[in-house]
Amino acid sequence: MKLQDRTILITGGTSGIGKALVKHLAPHNKMIVVIARNPIKMEKLSEEFPNVKTYRCSLSNKLEVESTLSEITDNHPEISVVMNNAGIQVTPTFLDSDFSFDTIDNEIIINLAAPIWICALMLGPLLNLKEPAAFMNVTSGLGLYPKKSSAVYCATKAGLHNFTKSFRYQLEDTLINVHEAIMPMVDTPMTKGRGNGKISVDDAAVAIIKGIESGYSEIYVGKAKLIPLMSRISPTLMAAIMKAG
Ligand SMILES: NC(=O)c1ccc[n+]([C@@H]2O[C@H](COP(=O)([O-])OP(=O)(O)OC[C@H]3O[C@@H](n4cnc5c(N)ncnc54)[C@H](OP(=O)(O)O)[C@@H]3O)[C@@H](O)[C@H]2O)c1
Repeated sequence: MKLQDRTILITGGTSGIGKALVKHLAPHNKMIVVIARNPIKMEKLSEEFPNVKTYRCSLSNKLEVESTLSEITDNHPEISVVMNNAGIQVTPTFLDSDFSFDTIDNEIIINLAAPIWICALMLGPLLNLKEPAAFMNVTSGLGLYPKKSSAVYCATKAGLHNFTKSFRYQLEDTLINVHEAIMPMVDTPMTKGRGNGKISVDDAAVAIIKGIESGYSEIYVGKAKLIPLMSRISPTLMAAIMKAG
């Protein structure tokens, strides 16, 4: 499925991987609809890309998500691709002094509940098109093999991985493809100051777009490509490598 001449919805399109997706998709498509929170970044994005329309919505608020998605589908019934990219990562372990109990629900809602809500709310509009369409959910290698820190994050990505697979099974007899982009560490504000060997946001976005256009259900990006192979050779070694993060 070519990502050309379409209207595409991207959550978290104002930063990191989402912004790179906007940069690579905007020149070839009719319109990119972006959901984010920060009004300054949203305004800058619209100035940079004239065919980007932004909607302010906090993905942690279910009522806000429902009303924003209703407004978006009224204004842009032609949306044929939905990219659930927005996410947050809380890094402390449960033993760390800066770990906060209050972060748990928010991380689960933004990373897992919100993309599921959006899949549910956008399914009808995508089916109504009666033409090829797609969902793409951004997960992580950490959803398959968790690291020691960021336990809730790893759990949300594992949940989104399984949801995406099951949702794909449900849509098998429709014209809608369901993709999952399984990311390695990418150089974004989320990973600032940690990790080595990060790939650039441009490489990440290009790989996701190529994966969708090539029809891959599970798009393993960069070093994440090693996961299926290593899982066959030595799952124990793979788990040990990923544990260190
Ligand atoms: N970076 C990596 O190494 C890596 C690896 C694996 C997977 N991923 C996944 O890739 C996706 C993008 O990550 P990134 O590194 O590009 O992150 P990022 O640079 O921190 O950007 C996150 C985006 O999500 C939006 N967002 C966050 N919370 C939101 C909320 N409550 N409501 C609405 N929008 C919200 C932000 O918008 P505002 O600033 O306006 O809130 C921002 O546009 C995430 O799902 C992440 O888990 C990243």
